Amino acid sequence: MMEWTDRHCRTFLRLISVRAFLYTEMVTADAVLHGDRLRVLGFNAAEHPVGLQLGGSDPARLAEAARIGADWGYDEINLNIGCPSDRVQSGCFGACLMAEPALVADCIRAMSDAVRVPVTVKCRIGIDDQDTEESLDRFVDTVADAGSKMFIVHARKAWLDGLSPKENRDVPPLDYDRVHRLKTRRSDLAIVINGGLTSLPNAAPHLVHVDGVMLGRAAYADPYLMADVDRTLYGEAEPPLSRL
Ligand SMILES: Cc1cc2nc3c(=O)[nH]c(=O)nc-3n(C[C@H](O)[C@H](O)[C@H](O)COP(=O)(O)O)c2cc1C
Repeated sequence: MMEWTDRHCRTFLRLISVRAFLYTEMVTADAVLHGDRLRVLGFNAAEHPVGLQLGGSDPARLAEAARIGADWGYDEINLNIGCPSDRVQSGCFGACLMAEPALVADCIRAMSDAVRVPVTVKCRIGIDDQDTEESLDRFVDTVADAGSKMFIVHARKAWLDGLSPKENRDVPPLDYDRVHRLKTRRSDLAIVINGGLTSLPNAAPHLVHVDGVMLGRAAYADPYLMADVDRTLYGEAEPPLSRL
């Protein structure tokens, strides 16, 4: 999460859970290509497993950024197709790409050809007036064919016109069943559900339907909830980390 899950935040969370998979803030492909690499990509080895999330829509630049990220040691490269901010729309990336599955497929193909680590996607169930049944299926089918075998799905639409980024994280209704149906139809893909999960007891029941759960704001607001992740979600025998 931008300006939240920097390397210090992630290192702190790793102290609390050994197994949780962590992600960077979104960084644009151009920031990777032209920015201060140590500042943009640097992380602590203790953070593994950790994925680098990229933003962009140019296949060649994303492929090069992915290659650089993989060389820096990231365990996964994730492409952001969920962020609705104006800044991101003007660069034509983030959630507006839900309407451009063929372009996203080109990006994923180029990125997958450039790295050995998994290339994955984080998306919404739809944008604006898209029909979330038909358009999400078409998006996922097209992009999976290009090489992404895992989709993290924020279970609400993004309204690109009229709602602020913050409102887009709360106002459009959550539709968890839509994400569950995606997994039923594409059982060959790893589907991770995200959005509005406030605790582990609240998140864990989704694992009957999907392969993973992603907690954003809850994990940031109450990092200690991560203390029981290894036992509850990964079946480790270890008792939850003591708060003391
Ligand atoms: C401050 C902030 C920054 C965020 N930045 C990103 C980001 O960089 N990439 C991304 O995919 N999602 C980002 N998100 C969205 C979250 O990853 C998540 O999809 C959303 O908050 C819903 O999940 P939650 O209810 O568990 O927080 C951000 C959310 C917040 C609150």
